[in-house]
Amino acid sequence: MENKKKIILTGDRPTGKLHVGHYAGSLKRRVELQDSGEFNQIFIMIADAQALTDNADNPAKIRESIMEVALDYLSIGIDPAKSTIFIQSHVSELTELSFYYMNLVTVSRLQRNPTVKAEIQMRNFETSIPVGFFTYPISQAADITAFHATTVPVGEDQAPMIEQTREIVHKFNSVYGETLTEPQILLPDNEACLRLPGTDGKAKMSKSLGNCIYLSDTEEDVRKKIMSMFTDPDHIRVQDPGKLEGNTVFTYLDAFSKEGHFAEYLPEYANLDELKEHYKRGGLGDVKVKKFLNSVMQEELSPIRARRAEYEKNIEGVYEILREGSRAAKEMAAETLREVKHAMRIDYFEDAAFLAEQKGRF
Ligand code: TRP
Repeated sequence: MENKKKIILTGDRPTGKLHVGHYAGSLKRRVELQDSGEFNQIFIMIADAQALTDNADNPAKIRESIMEVALDYLSIGIDPAKSTIFIQSHVSELTELSFYYMNLVTVSRLQRNPTVKAEIQMRNFETSIPVGFFTYPISQAADITAFHATTVPVGEDQAPMIEQTREIVHKFNSVYGETLTEPQILLPDNEACLRLPGTDGKAKMSKSLGNCIYLSDTEEDVRKKIMSMFTDPDHIRVQDPGKLEGNTVFTYLDAFSKEGHFAEYLPEYANLDELKEHYKRGGLGDVKVKKFLNSVMQEELSPIRARRAEYEKNIEGVYEILREGSRAAKEMAAETLREVKHAMRIDYFEDAAFLAEQKGRF
């Protein structure tokens, strides 16, 4: 029924402020998709219920992060006139859908989910995994299918979740008849954007490692973080040949620099390839490359910072955006839940045939 429409659903766990890793991996793309005009509807979810699956004892962190994440969304250019921003826990239909989907997934299938496996290891859960956490891929399938999403723009780490969702959709549709929409994942098209390392060169940006550049960082914070970024530890003197592999500054340039940046900030080089060649040959110091990266990043982040400052002056307005978005999202999810219950033939009070059937039996 909704199948001809193009619909986006995506979201983030509110466990802190969003950083440039989120931005490169997914947020920037969302704004491009939003502004492409190709989509009929766009839903962006603050996944607080999912965040609680491994933060049950710390609801204050989630509560505080709701507004941070909302401000991050609005400041990167998510436009509430074009995209619906909503809070997951407010859409109780999602939990109801999850409950029915649970019957379509086996424990062993969840145990094989690579993202869940990695997260269990990371959190040292071992045998004490909360059931809610273990089943969050199912709740994610509910998030996606509740909106008949056709497109899910996310980072690479979410690929197993979309795969799991597709399996649930197939299973549901084959058991109960064609009802749910099969989603496609949309990954960043730039390799470096798939996994932006921390400023210390570690594979993942994380608050606990203190290696993040946040979207809400000040100009001075960003500059300091870039000037102390991890590069090639063997590139000691300017004349030494430098390595690009594992060199965070170059990974960030791969992710963010465009040819126009060279004409503007570093006209001695035509493009990134020329800069890389010089670095490899030797004779190019880290400081010069870092200063260039700083110019590139500031250009990207300063409009975000300015928009954020405007929204920060109007927190009540942001609150209303969340309230209205959550209301609209709930309406759509309720419609899907009706379709699901109808397909499962458990919509007894909406289904006139039920009473007739039962009367015939007794
Ligand atoms: N798991 C996602 C994350 O950790 C958040 C999320 C929850 C999500 N439900 C979703 C993303 C549905 C895309 C679609 O950031």
